[in-house]
Amino acid sequence: MRALARVNLAAIERNVRRLRRELDGAELIAVVKADGYGHGAAPAARAALEGGAAWLAVATAAEATALRLAGIDGRVLVMGALTPDDVEEALAAGADVVAWREDMVEAIGERGGGRVHVKLDTGMGRLGTRDAEQATRVAELAASTAGVQLAGLMTHFATADEPGDAFLDEQLERFRAWALPLRERFPDALLHAANSAALLRDRATHFDLVRAGIAIYGLDPFQQDAASQELEPALELVSYVAEVKRCAVGESAGYGRRFVAESDTVLATVPIGYGDGVRRALTNNADVLIEGRRFPLAGTVSMDNVTVDLGADGGGVRRGDEVLLIGPGLPAEEMAQRLQTINYEITCGLAPRVPRRHHRDGVPA
Ligand SMILES: Cc1ncc(COP(=O)(O)O)c(C=O)c1O
Repeated sequence: MRALARVNLAAIERNVRRLRRELDGAELIAVVKADGYGHGAAPAARAALEGGAAWLAVATAAEATALRLAGIDGRVLVMGALTPDDVEEALAAGADVVAWREDMVEAIGERGGGRVHVKLDTGMGRLGTRDAEQATRVAELAASTAGVQLAGLMTHFATADEPGDAFLDEQLERFRAWALPLRERFPDALLHAANSAALLRDRATHFDLVRAGIAIYGLDPFQQDAASQELEPALELVSYVAEVKRCAVGESAGYGRRFVAESDTVLATVPIGYGDGVRRALTNNADVLIEGRRFPLAGTVSMDNVTVDLGADGGGVRRGDEVLLIGPGLPAEEMAQRLQTINYEITCGLAPRVPRRHHRDGVPA
């Protein structure tokens, strides 16, 4: 296999169990949008449900439909903004949807009704309304519209992944001030606010449901070290050594000759590139592991290949050896730091042409 993402579903299951240990009565919503953060939405969803997740969440109506077509029942929350066609599709998939204006609730009522979560924008500044009175009116309308059910009251944190930042507490206070009195009036409405970082950081954010994405995949929401959060990365990205060749001093490799050998060395050609999601900005700026040894990328990342500097003695590397780009000893967080991004973008950015091979601790799933 030229390039492959191996995804350990047992790790996702264990991560969900581990996250649930933090919860005191709250249920976990496993967020499987963007194809399960690149891990494969349906298999990740099934693994999360096995691990005890009570709900699933996605961003788009089409993602909800895809889960249903994969045979996954149960509660699914579509968290994203929806066009009228999207509302139709989400409701047809039996998903819960998010609303923050009266016309949104009306549109849901006109399409036969459904379960609505009202979103207060407590500071993310994205979806939801900043106006708590409006959010209350929308909740009242949802509760009184035929066919519509007020299922939830929600918000989303902007800085939960920045420990010590006080803004989370401000957002939390705004949410509590709005949602707790409303829940007295509508006791069936479930309160939810926390993402993975908030879940791990502050129990006061848990309420009835937590929406955990990144952490269920074993990635650190704080961009440090997954193990320190007792999380187990589920995904490994591998390729193989397709060619090994000598590169004499002064010879170069790759587009633009961005690697020129300063002394005689040996290069490996590995058939994975930015067409697979290994970003070009990693040019001369990433390591790979071959047989447990670290080697640096040499030169420009091209669409389908990278070259690796094995050193003068070739490092004992042979054609056919497996090359690890993300996995034990080479976490997605490291690649993210080199790219000045976050681990989310690394796994979401793996291209569709990289097959996902799902397994449970090595046993094909
Ligand atoms: C509204 C909402 N809730 C929860 C999540 C899950 O966040 P995380 O992956 O950080 O746990 C997301 C993801 O971005 C989101 O958009």
